[in-house]
Amino acid sequence: MNFKFHTDIEKQSVNALPKHAYFVPYTNKTEAFSNPKREHMNRVTLLNGTWKFRYFESLNEFLKQHELLEFDEIPVPSVWNLHGYDQLQYTNVQYPIPYDPPYVPEKNPCGFYQKDFDIKNYDEKLDYHLNFEGVAGAYYVWVNHQFVGYGQIAHDINEFDISSFVRAQNNKIEVLVFKYSDATYFEDQDMFRHSGIFRDVYVVGRSKKRIIDFKIETKLGEYEEATIEVAILKQKQNPEVTYQLLDNEGNVIAVDNAALEGFSITVPEAKLWSAERPYLYELFVITADEVISQKIGIREVTISNNKLLINDQAIKLRGVNYHDSDPETGYSISEERLLEDFKLMKAGNFNAIRTAHYPKSPYFYELANQYGFYVMSEADLETHGVVLLYGEENNEDYNLIADDKRFEKPIIERVVSSIVPLKNFTSIISWSMGNEAGFGCNFERALEQAKQLDTTRPLHYEGALYAEDHHDLSLIDMISRMYPSTDELVQRYLSKEDLDKPILLCEYAHAMGNSPGGLKEYHELMENYDAFIGGFVWEWCDHAIKTTIQNGASVYRYGGDFGEKVHDGNFCVDGIVNPDRMPHDNYFEFQQIHRPIILKEHNATNYIFENRLDFVDVSEIINIICTVTHRDGEKVVFELELPEFKPHTIIEINLSEYIMLDTVSDVSFAYVVKKDQLLLQKDTYLGTDQVIYKRRDIAALNNKQQEKVSLIKDTSQEVVVKYQNWYYVFDKHCGVLSKVVHEQHILVNDPIQLTVWRAPTDNDSHVKVEWKKMNYDSLRPRVYETSVKQHHDGSITICFDLALIEDRRPKVMTGTLTWSVLNQGEISVDYNMKKEARAPFLPRFGMTFKLSEQFEALKYYGFGPFCSYIDKREASYLDMFETTVTQNFEHHIMPQETGSHIDTSYIALTDGQYQAEVIAEKPISFNAKHYSDYQLTVANHDDELTAEPYTFLTIDEGQSGIGTNSCGPRLPEKYQLNQSQFKLKYKIQFNKL
Ligand code: GAL
Ligand code: MG
Repeated sequence: MNFKFHTDIEKQSVNALPKHAYFVPYTNKTEAFSNPKREHMNRVTLLNGTWKFRYFESLNEFLKQHELLEFDEIPVPSVWNLHGYDQLQYTNVQYPIPYDPPYVPEKNPCGFYQKDFDIKNYDEKLDYHLNFEGVAGAYYVWVNHQFVGYGQIAHDINEFDISSFVRAQNNKIEVLVFKYSDATYFEDQDMFRHSGIFRDVYVVGRSKKRIIDFKIETKLGEYEEATIEVAILKQKQNPEVTYQLLDNEGNVIAVDNAALEGFSITVPEAKLWSAERPYLYELFVITADEVISQKIGIREVTISNNKLLINDQAIKLRGVNYHDSDPETGYSISEERLLEDFKLMKAGNFNAIRTAHYPKSPYFYELANQYGFYVMSEADLETHGVVLLYGEENNEDYNLIADDKRFEKPIIERVVSSIVPLKNFTSIISWSMGNEAGFGCNFERALEQAKQLDTTRPLHYEGALYAEDHHDLSLIDMISRMYPSTDELVQRYLSKEDLDKPILLCEYAHAMGNSPGGLKEYHELMENYDAFIGGFVWEWCDHAIKTTIQNGASVYRYGGDFGEKVHDGNFCVDGIVNPDRMPHDNYFEFQQIHRPIILKEHNATNYIFENRLDFVDVSEIINIICTVTHRDGEKVVFELELPEFKPHTIIEINLSEYIMLDTVSDVSFAYVVKKDQLLLQKDTYLGTDQVIYKRRDIAALNNKQQEKVSLIKDTSQEVVVKYQNWYYVFDKHCGVLSKVVHEQHILVNDPIQLTVWRAPTDNDSHVKVEWKKMNYDSLRPRVYETSVKQHHDGSITICFDLALIEDRRPKVMTGTLTWSVLNQGEISVDYNMKKEARAPFLPRFGMTFKLSEQFEALKYYGFGPFCSYIDKREASYLDMFETTVTQNFEHHIMPQETGSHIDTSYIALTDGQYQAEVIAEKPISFNAKHYSDYQLTVANHDDELTAEPYTFLTIDEGQSGIGTNSCGPRLPEKYQLNQSQFKLKYKIQFNKL
C-alpha cells in the first residue's frame, strides 16, 4: 500500500460514495412505525464498541511493526489522546506543525484500529455501505484485507461501498488514522488537537433498487396552506415510489404514488415550524424494499429589507457557539450530553446555535429539529494559522490559502460536504462557509456551489471581511463580524443608510473567565436596529481536560499543562458553562438578557410587559410570579393573571391593590415555565425584572450600649482605643485599623489593606501589563501626618494624611483617611482621596479586612445572587441574600476576581460567636472570600488554591467593569474606574452575639 493520499491536495477522499442527504432507511413500514433507534434497525450494523488498537509514532514504525505486535484496546468512538496515547495539545491560531502544505512531518502519529464483525441480518441481495461519521485525521480503510477507501475531512460523513468485500460473518475491518495530513492546514480550529475515530461507525444494508438522494423544500402559500416539495435527485434501478405524510399526531395528511423525479404535497392549514414551536411532520418515502422516514418542519427563511425572516416574521438570533467538547471524551459527544446541553440552552433562552466550526453529527440536527433551535451549520474549514506564519499576527497573509488556486479542491469539497448530507434538516437556517479562512477565488467558487445546492438558506461567511476589492461577495447574504465594539457597529454599519445586508455577530461577548461585561449595550442595539439580526456568544463550554492528580482530586487542565511545545494556555477556557456544564454566572447574564418577557414601562400602579417571542402567546407557556417587598423586609408573593399575550404585543397590569408607595421597597417579576415543554420543566426560572422604589430600611447596626470610648494609648507606633472590653488598634505607619480584640479573641490581626488591585480576570489580561507597571499589585501606604482627637460626645477620631505609592513611581492615590470610634463601639471610615491623573485607570479602590475568625455565614443587601459589576449585572437583582463565604466564590479554572456584589448597603459576616457588620449609606461593592487577591493572582489552576481560615472582606468604593477584552474591545471608558476624586463613608462594627 502506498500511503500517499494524505499529502495529496487532490485527494480529499478515495472511493467514497458521492455525497447525498443523510438518511438510514427502514426495511418496511412496520419497522418504520416502531421507530427504533438507528443501531437497532434491521439493516444497521453498528461497529461502535471495543476495537483493537495500536499506536505508532510514525508510518515507518507502523510499517516495521504492525504485523508482529499485540494490540491494546480502545473504545470507538473516542479520541486516542484521552486514552493515554500520543500527546494532548491545545492550540488556537498557530499551526501545530511546520507550514509546508501539503506535506506533514515524518514523525506523524498514527493509530491502527482493527475489529472483527458480523453483518446483522446479512442478505446477499443488498448492497452494504460502510459509514464513518467523524474521524480526526486522515484514514485508510480495509475490509477483509482489501483496501476500501480513504477519507480526511474530520467532520464529514464518508460512505464506502463494501458490498464486494463483506460476507455474513467473520469480517475484519482495519483503519489506519494519521494525525497529520494536508487536512491539518484546513482544520486549524481553536481547540484541543485530538485524533481518532470519534463518531459512530456503521454498515447499512441498502436495497439495489433505491433512492440515493432527495431534497425537501417547504413553501408557504397565501391561505395558510404550504407545499412540501420533494425532489428525488438520484436513484438506482428506477424503484417505484409511494409516499405518506403524517402530522405530528399521526394523522395521514397525504398518501400517493410518486414520479421518479419527485412529488409535491399541499398541506392545508399547515402548522409551521419555528424554534419556539418546532412542529414536525413525518414523511415516509416508500420503495419496494425500503422505507425512508424524514421529519419535516414547514418553514421559510428569507432576508428582506435587511431583516431575517422566519415564516415572514422578523426574528433575532440569540445564539451560542457550540464546539464538540467534553472533559473526558473530547470530541465524542454522547447523546445524554447533547440533550443536557440543549436543555440548558433552552433555559438560557437561546434560540440559535452556530456549529462552530464544523458540521455536527446527524443526531444534533435531529434534536434541533425536535426541540427548536435555529442552526447555523458551518463547514469544517479554518486556515487561521496563516496569519501567524512569521510570529506576529498579520492579516495580510489571511488569504494565502483562500486565494491560491492550488487549494480550490479542499475548500470546495469542505463546503459541499457540509451542505449535501444535511440539507433536509429543517433546523438549519443558514450555511456558514467555515471560520477564519480568509477570502479569495476559492471561496468565490465555493459560494457558487453552495448557492447552487441550496437556494433556500442564506449564506454566511465572516472571512468576507478580508476580501480584496476585486473579490465578489454578492452570494454572501449577511455581513458578519466577530467582537466589534458597539461603537464600531454603529459607525461602520448600523448608521449607514445604504447598508445592503443585515449584520450578524457570529461571535461576540467572549465569555472567558469572569465575563462578559457590556452585554446590554449589544442587545439594545439589536432591539433598536432591524438590520442587526443577532449574535452568537463565544462560547458554550470551557474546553479543558479532566484528570486525576496525586491526591485523588479530579481537576481540569488546559493548554501547556501537558508539556506541549506549541500551545495557547487557557484561551480554550472561555465558555458560559464549565467543562462539565455547571453554569458560570456568565450563563445567567445571557438568560436574563434574552428573557422572553420584559417589563417595558411602569408607574406606581401600572406595569407594561412585552412578549418578546416571535410566534407564541407567552401566557400559554410562562407564568409571572410577582414579589412585592416592603421596606421592613416583608414579602408578598402572588402569581399574575395573564390575559392573551400575543408575540411582540404588550399587556398592562394594574397592581394598585398590592403596591402601597409609602411602604414598598421593590417589586420583582420572575418569569417561570408554566408547564413541562420542550426540555423545560415546570417552574424553570427564565429571568426577571425588578423595580426599586426605595431601598429597604436596614435596622441600624446591632444596638450596643451607649458607652464612652477611651483613648488607651497614643505612641509613635499606634493608637489604642477602648470601648467596653473591646480594643481597637490603629497603626500609624499604615494609617489603618490594625487589630480588633475582644477579651481573648482577636478578630482582626493585620492592618486593613488599602488596595487598588484585583486578581486580574482574563479580560484584564491586556491592561494588567499597564497596571503592573504602575505597581498596582503592590502599592503601600505612606503616612505623612496623624492627628488623634477625642470629641465632646466622647467619640475619638484618628486622621491620617497618606498616599499609596511604590518603588520607581510617583504617588497613585493621595488624601486623608479618618477613622472614628463612636460611642456604641462602631467604627466609621471616611476618606477623601485623589488619584494621580497620569496613572492608568484602577482595577478597584477599596479596603480589605482580613478577619481572623471563621466568618463563614454571609448576609448582604445588594445585587446578587450572581456576581455583579458595573457592566455585568443583568442577572442580579437587589435583595437581602443569605449565603456563605465559600458559596459566594465562583470557581474558575484559571483563578481570578469573582464574587463581588455592587450596590450593596449592608453586609453581615458571622462565625456563630461574633459578627462583623457593615453599613454604607452610599452603596458600595464588596467581596468576601477565603482567598487573598494575591493568592488568586498567582495561581494558575483552581486546584492550586488553598482556602484560608480567614475571610477577606473587601469594601470597594468602586471597581472597573468586566468587559470582554480577552478577545474583544478594550473596556469602554465609562466603565473604567478613573475619576480623580474618591470619597466614601461607611461604618463597620464588631459584636459578640
Ligand atoms: C475567534 C475564533 C474562535 C475562537 C475565538 C477566541 O476568533 O473564531 O474559534 O478562537 O476567537 O476564543
Ligand atoms: Mg481561529
